[in-house]
Amino acid sequence: MQLDFSSLTPLEAYRWLASSVTPRPIAWVSTRSAAGVDNLAPFSFFQVISDRPPTLMVNVNLRDDGSLKDTLRNVQETGELVIQLVDFAQAEAMNASSATLAPGISEFQHCAIASLPSSRVAPLRVAAAPVAFECRVAQIQAYPAQDPSCHLIFAEVLLAHIDDAVLDQRGRIDPQRLDLIGRLGGSGYCRTRDGFEMARP
Ligand SMILES: Cc1cc2nc3c(=O)[nH]c(=O)nc-3n(C[C@H](O)[C@H](O)[C@H](O)COP(=O)(O)O)c2cc1C
Repeated sequence: MQLDFSSLTPLEAYRWLASSVTPRPIAWVSTRSAAGVDNLAPFSFFQVISDRPPTLMVNVNLRDDGSLKDTLRNVQETGELVIQLVDFAQAEAMNASSATLAPGISEFQHCAIASLPSSRVAPLRVAAAPVAFECRVAQIQAYPAQDPSCHLIFAEVLLAHIDDAVLDQRGRIDPQRLDLIGRLGGSGYCRTRDGFEMARP
């Protein structure tokens, strides 16, 4: 079959893209508003996009009513965020934190997710996350420029917290121990333990 994207509605385009570009890693993003309210939400339009400088990119869509999600508003206000990776043990908590709450309510408290202070930025980090990147906003790009549907947050990594339990004997990350989940289409997810190796030609 062929799909002409110019004939699809945005929802149809989303479904085809999100169910084919899989698995997607999940950025579990913690931020703090200028007023001091902590926020936590997951985003799967997410990737590492540069190592010089070390940079991650997260897409935050506008809400259906055109308003900004708390995550975007907070990074616009403060320029700081923590991006956690999500392992299988945290799947339920991550999903719970995607609920839309009033701006004054913290997902950390509402979902009883334990936190720790960060070292270089104000937002809290998820205590049980296997990897947490403390980041400073490098750039926020409304996209597309003419009629934005989302904002792309380019986040420079300042410092990473890596749980020693996910390291192998050589001190490198062992994907089996990391046990991240990936997002598939709809409400589907996968685990990343079914790996294999290939030497480059
Ligand atoms: C696994 C998962 C992935 C998600 N990915 C995205 C995404 O890439 N972009 C987005 O705007 N929302 C995404 N969402 C929805 C947001 O998490 C949701 O809108 C959340 O309420 C935003 O919270 P905030 O207003 O506190 O920022 C995702 C939700 C889940 C459960």
